[in-house]
This record gives sequence, C-alpha cells and structure tokens, in this order.
Amino acid sequence: MKNKASIVLMTLMLFAAVSGCGRFAAETSTVPSKADAAPLKAQAIVAAAEVDSGHPEIEPGLSCNDCHEIKLDATTTATKVHLFGKTPAYNEGEGVMPKERVWAEIEKAIGGIKDDSKTFILATSLNNVPLSTTCEWTLDPKAKKLYGFHEAGTEKLRHIEANPRVSMNYHKEFDSATFKDFLCVQIRGTARLIHGEDPDFERIMIELLPYEFGARVLADATPEQREARLKAFRQGVKKDFVISEITPEQITIANQQFRAQGMRVYQRWTR
Ligand code: HEC
Repeated sequence: MKNKASIVLMTLMLFAAVSGCGRFAAETSTVPSKADAAPLKAQAIVAAAEVDSGHPEIEPGLSCNDCHEIKLDATTTATKVHLFGKTPAYNEGEGVMPKERVWAEIEKAIGGIKDDSKTFILATSLNNVPLSTTCEWTLDPKAKKLYGFHEAGTEKLRHIEANPRVSMNYHKEFDSATFKDFLCVQIRGTARLIHGEDPDFERIMIELLPYEFGARVLADATPEQREARLKAFRQGVKKDFVISEITPEQITIANQQFRAQGMRVYQRWTR
C-alpha cells in the first residue's frame, strides 16, 4: 500500500517535472516566475556554469545550449591572447603570420594528395551526443577543402546528414616533457556528402583520392589495361561508398617550431 502510494506520487512528480520542462522550452518568455512574476527566461550563461537544485528539470537529450546562449568568453579570451594578444614573449599583434603564410604552414602540415593524404580525427554530433572517428582525408590545395572516402551507412555519415557542423584534428605524437615537436591542426567547418551519381564523385577520385591501390591493377598491366581497371573500380564503388567534403571555416595550427622563426606557436586561418 505504502509502495503503491509512493509510486503514484513519484509518477505525479515526474509528470509535473516533464510537463514543466516542456513548458519552459516552448514558451520561456511567458511563464511567470514564482518569486517576482517576471518571465522565466533562460539567460546567457558562461560555459563553466552549472545547474543548481532550483534549476528547471532538463529533459534527456536537451543540452544547456538548447535554452541558453553560452558565452565562451573565458576560453576564447585565453585563445585570443595566445593568437594575437600581449604575452610575456610578444606585444599585441606581434608574431602573427600573414594569412597566406598561415595557409602555407597548414598545407605543409596536412597537405598532400593521393598517397600523401593524412589521417584525422573527425568529431560529429547528433542530439548533443558527440562521436569521434579516425579516417583519411585529402586536402584539395586549390579549393582548400578536404575529401574523404567512406563506406556508406556508418554512424558518422548519419551524423553529418543530420548535423553538418564538424570539427577535425590532426596531430603528431609529441614528447609532453619538452613539447619539442608539438604540431597540431584543429579544423572547424561543415561537411557535405557526395554520392556516386554526382559528377564530382569520380573527378575527386581521379584528381585527389588515393584509391588506386584498392583497384589492384596487375603489375604487368599495359597503360590501357590499367586505365580500364581503374575506371571499372570507380564505377564499382559508386553505390556502396560516399565522399565527404569538409569545408573548413577556421583552422588553428599549433607548431612549436614557429617559435624559432620568431612567430607565435598558435596561428589561425579563417576562410
Ligand atoms: C529546457 C531549457 C533549459 C535547459 C536545457 C537548461 N536550462 Fe538553465 N535555465 C533555464 C531557465 C528557464 C532558467 C531560468 C530559471 C529561473 O529563473 O528560475 C535557467 C536558469 C539557469 C541558470 C541561472 C542563470 C541566472 O543567471 O540566474 C543557470 C546557471 C543555468 N540555467 C545553467 C544551465 C546549465 C549549465 C544547463 C545545462 C546543463 C542548463 N541551464 C540547461 C532553462 C534551461
């Protein structure tokens, strides 16, 4: 009996909490607060903010930024100081590379087509649940975009279809005692999937992607046989593979060796 009563009570409380939350989410500006009858509005919060016990219930799947604007001041200020501000080593604006030089350094770190393509960690996010995946991408130095070749139907591709905002990272293993060879490239951008029927699919394969080893051309093949074999392979993968195109909006490169050239370790390129 006692148990039954508490189950009913808990169900009622849960119902109240869930419907209350739905109400906050749907019409944050019209629900009066208990204290002063002012509207309950989710204000901008800092990234480090935490919910206290008086916070409205948060439904699973909702994250802070679904209701609040998140101010990144604390972190971006620190990064900005590293990039452009006054530090013990540099005056404001000193040691900042011109845009073309930053791009040249990025190309040096992650560039190279075909077999010189690089492996990256790609971060995607769906329903506020992040996923990181290792894969190979090729930087197109002209378009300044990255292309990857993937088996269709994997989770990261579903993420990209639902939410094209991605982040990638490339880094070299480094000695954490000295940071001597510290080199890492962080990318923010958007992703798009290119399917087999798109004329760009084959062009990207031919010009950029390292697919030839997969076609297993015989060592003694004539140039004509080789071309026929590669073409058949390109046709054959159109149904089961997709190409991801990543358009970087911002790339931040950290390279310890910049310091020896009188430059800041952190440099940033924006499209
Ligand atoms: C469903 C929408 C919603 C979600 C999700 C949400 N909040 Fe809130 N939050 C609110 C509302 C509405 C208020 C105002 C409540 C009040 O004034 O009593 C609030 C108030 C706050 C406050 C007090 C702000 C102030 O300046 O008084 C903080 C801090 C806060 N939230 C942090 C968070 C954090 C951290 C998360 C993520 C873990 C989060 N919230 C997720 C709706 C939400």
